[in-house]
Amino acid sequence: QQDPLVLFMPSGRRGRFAKGTLVIEAARSLGVYVESVCGGRGICGRCQIEVAEGIFAKHKITSAADHLSPWSAKEARYAARRSLKPGRRLSCSTTIEGDLVIDLPSDMAVNAAVVRKAVDTRDFPRDPAIRLLYLDRIFAALEKDWGISAPIVDPGILRHVQKTLRDGAWKVTCAIAHDRDDERPRLMGLYPGLKNEAYGIAVDIGSTTIALHLSSLLSGATIASAGTPNPQIRFGEDLMSRVSYVMMNPSGRPEMTKAVREAIQALVEEVATETNIAPTDIMDCVFVGNPIMHHLFLGIDPTELGQAPFALAVSGALAVPASDLDLSLHPAARAYLLPCIAGHVGADAAAVTLSEGPHRQDETMLVVDVGTNAEILLGNRQRLLAASSPTGPAFEGAEISAGQRAAPGAIERVRIDPETLEPRFKIIGVDSWSDASGFAEAARSVGITGICGSGIIEVIAEMFLAGIITEDGIIDGSLAARSPRIVPEGRTFAYVLHEMPGRTISILQTDVRAIQLAKAALYAGIKLLIDKFGTAGESGTIDRVALAGAFGSFIEPKYAMVLGLVPDCNVEKCGSVGNAAGAGARMALLNRSYRREIEAVVKRIQKVETALEPAFQDHFVAAMAFPNKRDAYPELVK
Ligand code: FES
Repeated sequence: QQDPLVLFMPSGRRGRFAKGTLVIEAARSLGVYVESVCGGRGICGRCQIEVAEGIFAKHKITSAADHLSPWSAKEARYAARRSLKPGRRLSCSTTIEGDLVIDLPSDMAVNAAVVRKAVDTRDFPRDPAIRLLYLDRIFAALEKDWGISAPIVDPGILRHVQKTLRDGAWKVTCAIAHDRDDERPRLMGLYPGLKNEAYGIAVDIGSTTIALHLSSLLSGATIASAGTPNPQIRFGEDLMSRVSYVMMNPSGRPEMTKAVREAIQALVEEVATETNIAPTDIMDCVFVGNPIMHHLFLGIDPTELGQAPFALAVSGALAVPASDLDLSLHPAARAYLLPCIAGHVGADAAAVTLSEGPHRQDETMLVVDVGTNAEILLGNRQRLLAASSPTGPAFEGAEISAGQRAAPGAIERVRIDPETLEPRFKIIGVDSWSDASGFAEAARSVGITGICGSGIIEVIAEMFLAGIITEDGIIDGSLAARSPRIVPEGRTFAYVLHEMPGRTISILQTDVRAIQLAKAALYAGIKLLIDKFGTAGESGTIDRVALAGAFGSFIEPKYAMVLGLVPDCNVEKCGSVGNAAGAGARMALLNRSYRREIEAVVKRIQKVETALEPAFQDHFVAAMAFPNKRDAYPELVK
């Protein structure tokens, strides 16, 4: 006779368990997350489950409610006090007695009602640095029930301990912070009775945008997200101009530190209001950012990061009181900052590493996060290399005559007919494509304002594929005889993409040149890493290319290869990984072992300083051509 088969939905995880096994233990052994604030005492009610009854032929299971043990005394007590919906059971107090299909009710998975935008759908094991533990007689119970002895007690708690105990009729919930196993746990909060809410924030401080995600530390769900332009933009559009601002103005550093901290606090208040939680229930926070953002947030002068050898003031992971960063969260909350990889490859790249995990794979993976600086990682389980390359802002639409940020009205997709050289395009904010006779009515109402980064990549790639641009990036003036869209522009030629009253959107020779310079810098950085790495994957090529960040989300991999932004790779294995830095920050928020993992990985990443490598220039020159003067693209031709 086999042990009963148990299937957990919606995850679909299954396993066989001996009769008498607690359902919560079965769930955990399969990696199915079931909350337990009270440690299985039948008090918190967070571990509720439902049994799906019937014959599940596909899974070869017949499930029935009586395949669970009869109601326990704990469940009866809980139901009498706080009521239990029909069909619900407490998984901490119920054992498996036969085959079962078990549903985890959705209201048990998420603590707050609003789910606006999940950062990503990746699932991973959780073990947050903050836990809520429900107890009576604090210290004895901490030791006996939870194995926590002699915690450090935040002084603020001592003043209220007696009142809290009395208010909770001698039953309290402790918030315990325990990030590192080799440190003593910290009693950071004490609440009368049962508390089953604790939150954390993961913040990605980009030089253009700051993004914040609020997660439940108990369920792991992301319950709200918010973003804002980085207010430091008013001190300088790009990183180097912000460093210059600090160098030129004695008050520059404090002004920028204040601006970013205030912006983050405003985001905290925004998500707290939206989800109706108190900012003091935010007990943990994780931050990532490039080295200059990291230093300015911490209040450290970033001047040294503006020039070689790009010396970081601090590179390791940091845990500092959130109040030292002017954040009003839980008064004893600590902020965790992921380590920076190098003076030019920041904690954001560390977060990308954590989420994409090249160090966990046998395949050789190239991860590229393109902003005004491209951060590049190459490697696998054996070795991992990192570099950054000064691509400049061309990929974001700056330095391009009709360039603009991605916003409604910007051209984002382009196709050019190789016969007629006529374009079709799509603008942000309108679903349809323009057709040969002009632009759809809908587009006229939005208006066409320029071309964003992904549009520029596509239009130049399409111009190259249609033969309008040569391999060397020259707009071929002889085509003017064939198409009215090729027009003289000074001593060079331009391609007219769209004409409207009072404005013409064209691709000029200088625009093509700006993209060539940016992509050559990116490719040369990648190529240096490939040189250092030796042969890449088993096939001698890179097995997988991950394009991270906002840029990577919108650019089509095929076009990145047509222009030679990235090396040859199976197009199927080249794709966007979305906001990988945000995903990595969230992993570090929800599982402290990921913090240890990335701290260890960063120590063994080999840093390559592109500015100091003699071969950079040589690779750069070869990479000015489309797709590349030296390197072939056999996969692309397939
Ligand atoms: Fe608290 Fe089951 S874990 S009631």
